[in-house]
Amino acid sequence: MTSENLITQDLQPLDMIDVSDPAIYQEDRWAPLFARLRREAPVHYCAASRYGPFWSVTRYNDIMAVELDHATYSSELGGVQVEDQPVDMKRGSFIRLDPPRHTTQRKTVAPIAAPANLASYELTIRQRTRAVLDELPRNETFDWVDKVAIELTTMMLATLFDFPWQERRMLTFWSDVAICNVNAPDAPVRSEAERFAELLRMADAFKVLWRERAATARKLDLVSMMAHSEDTRGMPEMEFVGNLALLIVGGNDTTRNSMSGGLWALSENPGELAKLKANPALVPSLVAETIRYQTPVIHMRRTARRDVELAGQTIRQGDKVVMWYVSGNRDERAIPEPDRFLVDRARPRAHLSYGAGIHRCVGERLADLQLRVLWEEILRRDMRIEVVGRPVRVYSNFLRGFRSMPVSIKA
Ligand code: HEM
Repeated sequence: MTSENLITQDLQPLDMIDVSDPAIYQEDRWAPLFARLRREAPVHYCAASRYGPFWSVTRYNDIMAVELDHATYSSELGGVQVEDQPVDMKRGSFIRLDPPRHTTQRKTVAPIAAPANLASYELTIRQRTRAVLDELPRNETFDWVDKVAIELTTMMLATLFDFPWQERRMLTFWSDVAICNVNAPDAPVRSEAERFAELLRMADAFKVLWRERAATARKLDLVSMMAHSEDTRGMPEMEFVGNLALLIVGGNDTTRNSMSGGLWALSENPGELAKLKANPALVPSLVAETIRYQTPVIHMRRTARRDVELAGQTIRQGDKVVMWYVSGNRDERAIPEPDRFLVDRARPRAHLSYGAGIHRCVGERLADLQLRVLWEEILRRDMRIEVVGRPVRVYSNFLRGFRSMPVSIKA
């Protein structure tokens, strides 16, 4: 951040601030904008953005109030992103539903990350993590995002869906397709129509698996679970596509970006790495702190069902309300020294990255597990991983992530 940028941001009239611009996340210059909003206009109205007018909720406690009042703040009326899905290409999924349909569909897939099932995954995750780490090149620059973060999370996804192993990178591709900003220079699809066509190809591939699983006994994979549940087996095709995309993106990009975000934060804070090496029991705390500090999901959006007051502002029925988790996680009113990355924070789990209330992340324990195992294995090997160049960040106002991160491991 140059001083010139800082001055421009401070001089910008409040009502001109538009935090939905994906460039501010790619260029990593969102923090001072949100600090100003939290201070001067914690519930802020942006009258004109490329996604239309919207309210920004920026303080921790106000975000929590919106999360917990799902009767007022609907996920079903307008979806969960500041950008609306095109009307003729809507892909419903249960994250975009309110009760009662949300409740039954969530129940179908939630057991995938229940504690007993996680215990059965841990050994597999550890074996794969060990294999991936042991095969990494030494004394040579490579891309951490591709060789570690994408590789490990894609393997996990293939297991969750029991997807054909050799074709597992298709899951990564579809995840990027489902969630990318089509205007990003490196987007895998260039228009909403292209995105839609590719997601239909994904649905075709999954339909084959669905038929197979429906014809055999129910087992612990997401396709089988949906094919056998009363609440999901008859769902219309577009809802099937939407739910697959939700589970693929949910299980993939967020965890992937936390694997890269943790390495980046530790490389920027060598003192914290030293603490961790001296006391590996801090790993669970490192994981929680990484998820707060990285905030892999930048925002979730709701739509007001009725006129409502929030922090002194009157929100009208039908207005878009955006909860900026990146901002709530840096709210000094709720989190001490929020801009510091501290592996021994007193209450590291007190963050908003997994949301709250009825939509709180289904896969959080699974994400925590994958990250814990990764860092335990890195520390056990005493790997000296050096980030040797600037990481490239993703152009998105929804997922905060890394496209690439050059690293080298000392032999
Ligand atoms: C670090 C990793 C992850 C982060 C930061 C994350 C974050 C989130 C957030 C913010 C929400 C919305 C919460 C709300 O609206 O209150 C959510 C929902 C969800 N997540 Fe995650 N997630 C992660 C990993 C996963 C994984 C591994 C899975 C799948 C196995 C998953 C599946 C889901 C699903 C299905 C929902 C929708 C829940 C609902 O609407 O009831 N997530 N996640």
